[in-house]
Amino acid sequence: MESVPVADGVYWVGAVDWAVRHFHGFHYHTARGTTYNAYVVTADKTALVDTVHAPFTAEFLERLGAVVPPERLDYVVVNHVELDHAGALPAILERAPQATVVCTRAGEKGLRDHFGANWNFRTVRTGDEIDLGGRKLRFIEAPMLHWPDSMFTYVPDSEVLLSNDAFGQHLATGGRFDDETPLDVIMDEASKYYANILTPYNAQVVRKLEELPALGVAPRIIAPSHGVIWRRHVSDIVAAYSRWATRPGEARVVIVFDTMYGATARMARDIAEGVLSAGVGVRLFEVASSDHTEIIRDIVEARGLAVGCPTLNKRMLPSTAELLEELLGLRPAGKIGLAFGAHGWGGGAVSAIEEVLKAAGVTLHESLKVRYRPTAEDRAAGVEAGRRLAAAITPAGDPAS
Ligand code: FEO
Repeated sequence: MESVPVADGVYWVGAVDWAVRHFHGFHYHTARGTTYNAYVVTADKTALVDTVHAPFTAEFLERLGAVVPPERLDYVVVNHVELDHAGALPAILERAPQATVVCTRAGEKGLRDHFGANWNFRTVRTGDEIDLGGRKLRFIEAPMLHWPDSMFTYVPDSEVLLSNDAFGQHLATGGRFDDETPLDVIMDEASKYYANILTPYNAQVVRKLEELPALGVAPRIIAPSHGVIWRRHVSDIVAAYSRWATRPGEARVVIVFDTMYGATARMARDIAEGVLSAGVGVRLFEVASSDHTEIIRDIVEARGLAVGCPTLNKRMLPSTAELLEELLGLRPAGKIGLAFGAHGWGGGAVSAIEEVLKAAGVTLHESLKVRYRPTAEDRAAGVEAGRRLAAAITPAGDPAS
């Protein structure tokens, strides 16, 4: 794959990772792969903005070299020090020791701590600019989108915002732009990305979206560091971020469950029946066989959450515990929850679920426990609990979706 022109004087020189299926360890299932987007901005002087994950260094150097030999780079802008973007930095600076490394103050600390390098650093703050001679770079600090060091680089002359992780998607494609892949696929990945990575930083997203116009940043193109470049649907993704960052949760219920011999699965289906009978949408996931990244996205987007698990050694099954551990970190706001589970001679899973849901900020509506297998009374109670949960998440006048 060649370098790709993005706009006047801006080129994509990154890498496409079709094969990766796990990101951040096993935290994120990258079902459709990802890309590591790096860009070159050319004028009298030349700047590289971000690099790639280290295993892709060779193809990155080749692609970069087709636009500008690294030896001639004047600036290397590091929007974010995480290694999926800074992994090839040592290889670049070995070839371009003359280049100035431009980053935030936190970025410089991160790069020094990680690489132990003594490169020519220049730290920037929001509003600072570098004139490349015919094309400027304007910097906007974006702490926690996705790390404290993160920033955006805006190219006002080309109206391109190089937003790094923000507006990204873990999506490998042949085309680099949002009009070359079906929009529903792109938005599916963008929503999973937001829910699984940016949910804890909703407040920072809101502030940043408000701040950009005030800083004269009105991009015609948003070029993130993962996935496709937004050029046709810029307003759609900005509107989606605004919605995702402020959502109270849609009036739907997500039911996640584990099961050993089918009793807890039976409870899950009865609760679902009750939710549906109240005219509220529902989605069931069997935790052990489902994509956790998709489950988390659906949990973040819904207002109601029911979690069920049988008991193993007085605790939850490990697959449920693993999913809830992710929820503890994300702490999505405004969820109303129900814990349930079947047990035989002992118990403990439901109490353990209750404990984690509360710690994750979920308002616990009620809990259901069954011994061995649901009786007719237990099954009716499950349907009623589903109805009550549906009512709790659909206050009067709030249409179910
Ligand atoms: Fe894509 Fe936070 O790195």
